[in-house]
Amino acid sequence: MRGIKDKVVIVSGGATLIGAAIARAFVAEGARVVVADIDVKGGSALASELGETTRFVATDVSRDADIDACVQATVKAFGQIDCLVNVAVIYADNGPASPREDWEKAFAVNVFGAAMFLRACRPHMARGSSVINFGSTSAGVAQAGRWTYPATKAAVLQLTRSAALDLAADGIRVNAVSPGWTWSGILDQISGGDRDKVDAVARPFHMLGRIGDPAEVADAVLFLASDHARFITGSNLPVDGGYAALGPEQATSPISELLSRPACPCASPSSPPRSPSRSPPACRPSPPTAPCPTATASRPRAWAAPPSPCRRTPWPPPTTRPAWPSSATGSTSGWRW
Ligand SMILES: NC(=O)c1ccc[n+]([C@@H]2O[C@H](COP(=O)([O-])OP(=O)(O)OC[C@H]3O[C@@H](n4cnc5c(N)ncnc54)[C@H](O)[C@@H]3O)[C@@H](O)[C@H]2O)c1
Repeated sequence: MRGIKDKVVIVSGGATLIGAAIARAFVAEGARVVVADIDVKGGSALASELGETTRFVATDVSRDADIDACVQATVKAFGQIDCLVNVAVIYADNGPASPREDWEKAFAVNVFGAAMFLRACRPHMARGSSVINFGSTSAGVAQAGRWTYPATKAAVLQLTRSAALDLAADGIRVNAVSPGWTWSGILDQISGGDRDKVDAVARPFHMLGRIGDPAEVADAVLFLASDHARFITGSNLPVDGGYAALGPEQATSPISELLSRPACPCASPSSPPRSPSRSPPACRPSPPTAPCPTATASRPRAWAAPPSPCRRTPWPPPTTRPAWPSSATGSTSGWRW
């Protein structure tokens, strides 16, 4: 790829699968790489594997002194810094139960670590340099039981936009990549190393029907760092097999389902006409006598509707969305979509 050869690149969090794939990809294109990670064993092993063009510097991105030492070591070894890739992350997340300490830790690594690394590198970056931050599909959607991690990733995307604007005058581009599910340490661990199982679970919400490979994320990072992306800054490049472009309907065809579904048992010819606005249903379906045969037919397993007999029942179930009004007149008071 044009413009990568001889560049000096720092990859924070470069010791595990995704970060290591990025380091390997840069080295394969002739760049020199510094892996900055708290994982001394993994980072040292990667540096040994990649040889003279790669250094490992033990770095905790939540500590400014470590970041400064890494930047100094990089300049000493290679004389310059052309690219910073902020991969380091912690995933720990207790959702609504997260205490202040967890919030502080998550932001200290995922957001402040990226911002402080950029701040420390900037004086050593010449025109044409670039920064690539790591967002996530998690930054733009609600995920059950996850509060701290998605919030940090959304913050990283905003940091990317702000930094892109303020560094543009210096000729430094700042972009982000947002992976979907990608084969990584955490998925390896959770699935017991069963990639097929992970692909099967991820299939309904990734258009391409599988999770990503670390090398595919690395390719996108390389592109953003290269001359091919010289007019791209402030962007967020999804590397997610179509995850972010897929809505709640996923790859199903609800209109076909609607056309083929038998009439609801509660349907009444005397029901008042419905306005096209966001009004509630005219009646709440009474308990049906027989299940609708199409209730679950075309939904992928992960999103299969509960064995509800009538899809006028709100979906997701009422625990996650306000209940329909009980009034049979269709009053909208107190009802919101
Ligand atoms: N894996 C996925 O499916 C996925 C999906 C979306 C986004 N991402 C993003 O991709 C990036 C890589 O994710 P991953 O799954 O490979 O993560 P990972 O947990 O496997 O690796 C993270 C790396 O960061 C290092 N690290 C942790 N705390 C650190 C600290 N304080 N200082 C320095 N290094 C530290 C770890 O040692 C590790 O090498 C992350 O930014 C993540 O948000 C991953």
